[in-house]
Amino acid sequence: DDPAPHRAEPLREWRRAPVRAAFAVAVEDGAGDAVRDVPALIGGEAVTTARTIDSVDPGRPDRVVARSASCGASEADAAVAAAAEVAERWRRTPAPERAAVLFRAAAWMRAHRDALAAREVHEAAKPWDQADADVCEAIDFCEYYGREARRLAAGGEVESPPGEHDVLTYEGAGVTAVIAPWNFPLAIPCGMTAAAIAAGNPAVLKPAEQTPGVALAVVEAFAAAGLPDGVLGFLPGRGEEVGARLVEHPDVAVVAFTGSQEVGLALNAAAAVHRPGQRHVKRVIAEMGGKNALVVDADADPDQAVPIAVRSAFGYSGQKCSALSRLIVLDRVWDAVVPRLVDAVRELAVGPAQEMGTQVGPVIEAEAQARLREVVAGAGRHGTVALARDDVPGDGFYVGPTVVTEVDPASPLARDEHFGPVLSVFRAADLDEALALANDTDFALTAGICTRSPSHAARARDELRAGNVYINRDITGAVVGRHPFGGHGLSGVGSKAGGPDHLLRMMNPRASSENT
Ligand code: SER
Repeated sequence: DDPAPHRAEPLREWRRAPVRAAFAVAVEDGAGDAVRDVPALIGGEAVTTARTIDSVDPGRPDRVVARSASCGASEADAAVAAAAEVAERWRRTPAPERAAVLFRAAAWMRAHRDALAAREVHEAAKPWDQADADVCEAIDFCEYYGREARRLAAGGEVESPPGEHDVLTYEGAGVTAVIAPWNFPLAIPCGMTAAAIAAGNPAVLKPAEQTPGVALAVVEAFAAAGLPDGVLGFLPGRGEEVGARLVEHPDVAVVAFTGSQEVGLALNAAAAVHRPGQRHVKRVIAEMGGKNALVVDADADPDQAVPIAVRSAFGYSGQKCSALSRLIVLDRVWDAVVPRLVDAVRELAVGPAQEMGTQVGPVIEAEAQARLREVVAGAGRHGTVALARDDVPGDGFYVGPTVVTEVDPASPLARDEHFGPVLSVFRAADLDEALALANDTDFALTAGICTRSPSHAARARDELRAGNVYINRDITGAVVGRHPFGGHGLSGVGSKAGGPDHLLRMMNPRASSENT
C-alpha cells in the first residue's frame, strides 16, 4: 500500500504542563543513566576496541555520558568490506522494502522520542525544545526518504518513439561513508544514513567524537527496523583516523559529510584521488559552514524582527551552520531595533540544558569555549561591544551571549564562522547596501529579511545569495520536505537534505532502450 503523504512530525507542545512533566522525567531518567557504552557495528556485530573515547556533559564536564569505541583503519576496512559484500543485494532490494525499513526505524524513534531527546540534553547540551526538534527531524528524514525511494523507483521520464521502449532508472551508487557532526546529533547522522539506505546504498557512519551516545540511536533504530547485517556500519572514533580512512577507501563510492569548511574541502580533495582497485569516481556531498545574514528593513516590525534575530543567532548557543551571525539593520530602524535586541539578549536564560526554560546552554567542549572567549575578548578591535554577558555558570563550557555593533565588514569578526553565541550588527543606509553587505561573504547557506514591503521581500528572495532564504521568520530550523536544506558557495556543493534532489546524488542513472 502507498504510504500517506509525508507530514512533518509535530513538535512537542511545551505550553502544555503534562508535556513538560513527561520530558522532565525523561531528563531525570537520563541523568541517572550509567555511562553508555558505544561499540562499533561491523557486519552486524558489536565490536569494542582497546582504546576508547569519553564524551561528557558540556554543562558538567566531570560527568562522562558515553564511552565509545575508538576505531581506526582496520575497523574502517572491515566495515567497508562488510558493506561491499551486501551492496549488490541491497541495491536490488525493491524500493518498497527499503522504504519499509526506514518507516520502522522512524517508528522506533517515535516510540523512544523523549528518551532520545533527553540523551541530547545530557550529551550535546541541547535545550529541551531544540532536542525534541532534532529527534523530530531524524524521524522526518526516515519518513521522507522512504517515500522518495518509492517515488524514484518509477524512474525518470524519457520518450519512446514507435518501435522502441526507452526507460530511465536509478540505482544505488554503492557504499556510502557518512561523516556526521555533533550539533544535530541525531538528525544529521540519521538523515545522511537514511538517505544512503533509501537510495540502495550500504552506509558506514562515523559519528562525531562528542556525541556517540546520541548517534548510537541510529544503530538501535535500524536494528529494531530489521535492516540486514552489513547495510549499516557504525564506527565511532577520531576523524583523522577512521574518517580519513573511510574517505580514501577504494570501495567507498559516495562520501556524505556535514561539518566544517576546512574538513569538507580536505575530504573533497582526498576523495578526488583515484586509488588502486577503485572502480568509480567518488562523489562527495559536503555541507559546510555559514556566515549567515538577516536584513532588518526600514519598515520591519521590531516586535517581530528582534525575536527572530535572537532565536536565529542564539538558539543552541549559535552552534548551527544555519545560525545568524550578521544582523544588518537599516539606518531608519536602528534605534528601534538595536537597543531592544541588546535588552532581549541580556534577558536570555543561560544555564544547564537540563533545566526547563534554558535558552542558551554551554557550548560543546573546552576548545570551543576557549576559542569563543578569545573571539569575545578581541571583539572590541572590530566594533563596539554592546553586550558581552559574563553572568554565566562557572562550571561547564559556557560562553556569554555577545552582541557587537558597528562591526567592520572586512574584519575576521564579520567574515569568519565562529559557531557560537556571538552576533555582529551592521548598519546599512538602504536596501541596496544591506543586500550587498549580506552577500559579501564566501559562504552561501542561509539568509533572511524582515520587511513589510512585498517588493523588498521579492528582491531578497531573488538577490540574497544563499541556499535557504527566509522572509519574516527565523533563518534556522529547516523542516524536511518543506525547506530542502543546504548551501552553495563555500557552504556546500548545492545538495539539499530533505528535498527531492537528494537521493539522486547517491544514485546512478541508467538508460535502457529496447527495439520492439
Ligand atoms: N537544518 C538545520 C537548520 O536549518 C541546520 O543543519 O537549522
